Amino acid sequence: MSPRDADARPAGRPARTYLDFAATAPLRDAARDAFLEASRLGANPSSLHSGGRRSRLSLDASRARLAAAAGADPSELVFTASGTEADNLALKGLYWARQAADPARRRILVSGIEHHAVLDTVEWLESHEGAVVHLLPVDAEGTADVEAARRELDAHPGEFALATLMWANNEVGTVQPVRELVEACAPHGVPVHSDAVQAYGVLPTPFAETGLASMAVSGHKLGAPVGIGALFVRRDAVLEPHTHGGGQERGIRSGTLNVAAAAAFAAVVPEGPGGRPEEAARLRALQARLWEGVKQAVPGAVLNGPDPVEHPDRRLPGTLNLSFPGAEGDSLLFLLDMAGFETSTGSACTAGVPRPSHVVLAMSGDEERARGTQRFSLGIDTRAEDVDALLDVLPRIAEQAGAAGLAARPSGIETASTRGGGRPGPQAETGSGSTRGSEDRG
Ligand SMILES: Cc1ncc(COP(=O)(O)O)c(C=O)c1O
Repeated sequence: MSPRDADARPAGRPARTYLDFAATAPLRDAARDAFLEASRLGANPSSLHSGGRRSRLSLDASRARLAAAAGADPSELVFTASGTEADNLALKGLYWARQAADPARRRILVSGIEHHAVLDTVEWLESHEGAVVHLLPVDAEGTADVEAARRELDAHPGEFALATLMWANNEVGTVQPVRELVEACAPHGVPVHSDAVQAYGVLPTPFAETGLASMAVSGHKLGAPVGIGALFVRRDAVLEPHTHGGGQERGIRSGTLNVAAAAAFAAVVPEGPGGRPEEAARLRALQARLWEGVKQAVPGAVLNGPDPVEHPDRRLPGTLNLSFPGAEGDSLLFLLDMAGFETSTGSACTAGVPRPSHVVLAMSGDEERARGTQRFSLGIDTRAEDVDALLDVLPRIAEQAGAAGLAARPSGIETASTRGGGRPGPQAETGSGSTRGSEDRG
């Protein structure tokens, strides 16, 4: 079958089907309208004249709604330009503050399946600031091992500066035991940060109730424009700022505030702290339909993460990650793209060499499985017809990608494309080892 065969789409289908909501969600009308309306205010919210006060009122309203969606107090929200910035601010800020207060606290506990916004920041703290990194292993479903965290905390009393664990994983969707980690860290006086970029606005993320020191979120995952995020910071958490200037946002993040983007972000979050249960239930049903369909249509496909039918509560409602053994993730992606489906591998090419997913590697230790991943992330526009149309093309595409993988396999001879070769990870003292070698973008 030629690659062009994959291009044949049933009549009446939209030209493209977007299944990459975990990377970014297309701009929503409510966000665009709120952005345009707030941009007309046109004054700096720190100015004292009436225009400035109107901007401040708009910003306060956005802040209140965004905080309510996280079960947080508005005073706990610090606006940033992205989830990445929020993660950096939290990890560096907490580390520096803890170090200044007690130089013995140099250790950082981090799960091996974090987004690179966290992993690379921790690695930077290791190479530039003398941090000692402890990687937390994960089980086969991608859930971080809190017992291992307890052992590490007990083994090094008074030496941990902070711990960090994402709310839900961006590649495989596994929801993490954040509350349990906070409970394990509390007796040791260790503050916990959580990257909730994929969970906020989708699942309940009760910041205050969980006892976290900080939590990072991002607007564009929900259909706000790229360029707005936030860090929730508990009132008593001490955080050393890394930008200095006008002293906005409790002095934690200086810089003129982006009133219009904040309004757009507020327009796409739920009104209260419960997430969006109806939308989550709808997506869960679609995710289950996809997984049930894949089991029939492509029996060799392997699910990465908890079973969406048996344990829907343990995963993000819209993010399904599958491995197609023998196939390269990138081949799958390009064939799917030709067939009109926009998906993601969860791992990336560095200098043309496909890399295995660090998340699936940490879960399975299986490099072939970690190379042949495909993430299907469903969102607000996804319908049952989209899932069914995907299921129609998937067997052909899995077969084609598998054949291409076989043809490319150099029967045990090591080449540049089969050798490991990713950037080295943090020199972890413990844990699951390899965290690097992929460049996840969403
Ligand atoms: C879990 C997670 N953390 C952090 C980020 C970075 O967020 P942003 O794109 O807003 O910088 C992303 C998205 O790319 C993500 O999925």
